[in-house]
Amino acid sequence: MSEKAEIKIDGKTYELPTLVGSENEKAIDISSFRAQSGVITIDPGFKNTGSTKSAITFLDGEKGILRYRGYPIDQLAENSTFLEVAYLLIYGNLPSAEKLAGFEKDITNHTLVHEDIKKLLDGFPYTSHPMGVLSSLVTSLTAFYPMSLDPNRSAGEVNLSIIRILAKMPTFAAWAYKNQLGQPILYPDNKLDYCGNFLKMMFGLPTEDYHPEPIVVDALNKLLILHADHEQNCSTSTVRIVGSSQASLYASLSAGINALWGPLHGGANQAVIEMLEGIKQDGGDTKKWMAKAKDKDDPFRLMGFGHRVYKNFDPRAKIIKKAADEVLGKLGIQDPVLDIAKGLEEEALNDPYFVERKLYPNVDFYSGIIYRALGIPTEMFTVMFALGRLPGWIAQWKEMRENKEPIGRPRQVYVGETARDYVPVNKR
Ligand code: ACO
Repeated sequence: MSEKAEIKIDGKTYELPTLVGSENEKAIDISSFRAQSGVITIDPGFKNTGSTKSAITFLDGEKGILRYRGYPIDQLAENSTFLEVAYLLIYGNLPSAEKLAGFEKDITNHTLVHEDIKKLLDGFPYTSHPMGVLSSLVTSLTAFYPMSLDPNRSAGEVNLSIIRILAKMPTFAAWAYKNQLGQPILYPDNKLDYCGNFLKMMFGLPTEDYHPEPIVVDALNKLLILHADHEQNCSTSTVRIVGSSQASLYASLSAGINALWGPLHGGANQAVIEMLEGIKQDGGDTKKWMAKAKDKDDPFRLMGFGHRVYKNFDPRAKIIKKAADEVLGKLGIQDPVLDIAKGLEEEALNDPYFVERKLYPNVDFYSGIIYRALGIPTEMFTVMFALGRLPGWIAQWKEMRENKEPIGRPRQVYVGETARDYVPVNKR
């Protein structure tokens, strides 16, 4: 690619620098364009706008490639643990055995949350959606750790804030669930690993011994790894943009949790199961629902289908579909919605509407089926996603800070009224 791009407006040519990423992704740097020409570029939804240069995650939507720090997602999902991947994303390389042990120990040391946080939890009615509880509890950490408010503190202090949230997020997530059930909360069990401890806080009771099943722990590890980062998606961009104002790590992460909640993003996993259940209750006629999804006058969309960047297949969806079969098989569960999901997928992949628009199952199409098999209730699905995405958000926030990126502040093309004079209310 030549070093300069040219844009011609009103007979005048402007030269703009270009850049090429390590995977040969090409870009035109328009940051100086307005200063030269008085003209801005517009791209609602940032469909073709890079907001940053990042060294964390590479994905190629056309080829269906996803790599964290260069490592293919399938290798990581198959061989590593969630905390190993968290380390990789946040610090840039896979840890040595010693470094990993130290990281795990640090996290284990911080799993307890301040006792007063229980008072906050008690204030939420049982009807609260756990995503709202989770984002509130994450924000509340700013009150319990005022040191975390200033992202310009020393690297060691920032790292302590990072360790704290990685350690406490499973506690918050499980407690948000217990609050819904009206069951007593369980304290973390530091003898268990990250996933086992979370499962115990979710499903254990003070009156019973609980031992997480290895199949369930493994499946959870895999799901969390698959969700751990996905470059500049809606919630990650939110984390970076909130952080760019020098708001604290916890405030930025809480904003990310709220951005993830929507059904067009992380909330899709809940929406998928609700959709599949709806289709089942309606008699299982997938053709009828396919027709609804294609009808432009009908707001229904096939949830779990389509992706802003994947236009071939979502590599995570492939791994999750296989894992869904394995997990359900091993647990001896037969879920009729899995058959409906497979039927819908097959029809969609052969339907010109979906083929022409390059709509394929995304990560959320099958994840809810596994979560359900693991005993996780529907309203907790997006919380599970948040738990998985946490290291990615942290890594992206940290990178944004280390790169000293400027405050995020897009421009607009104003299309409202031009100047007009105020008219007193009695004369209107
Ligand atoms: N069902 C039916 N039609 C769809 C679907 C779908 N799930 N997804 C996209 N389309 C159609 C659109 O109507 C549009 O058709 P048109 O060109 O005739 O107008 C075309 O495909 C392109 O869709 P856009 O909405 O423009 O694509 P965009 O990149 O903006 O949206 C999104 C991507 C939000 C993921 C979309 O595909 C969608 O709503 N999917 C369902 C929700 C979902 O599964 N979200 C999870 C995404 S993965 C994640 O965030 C973890």
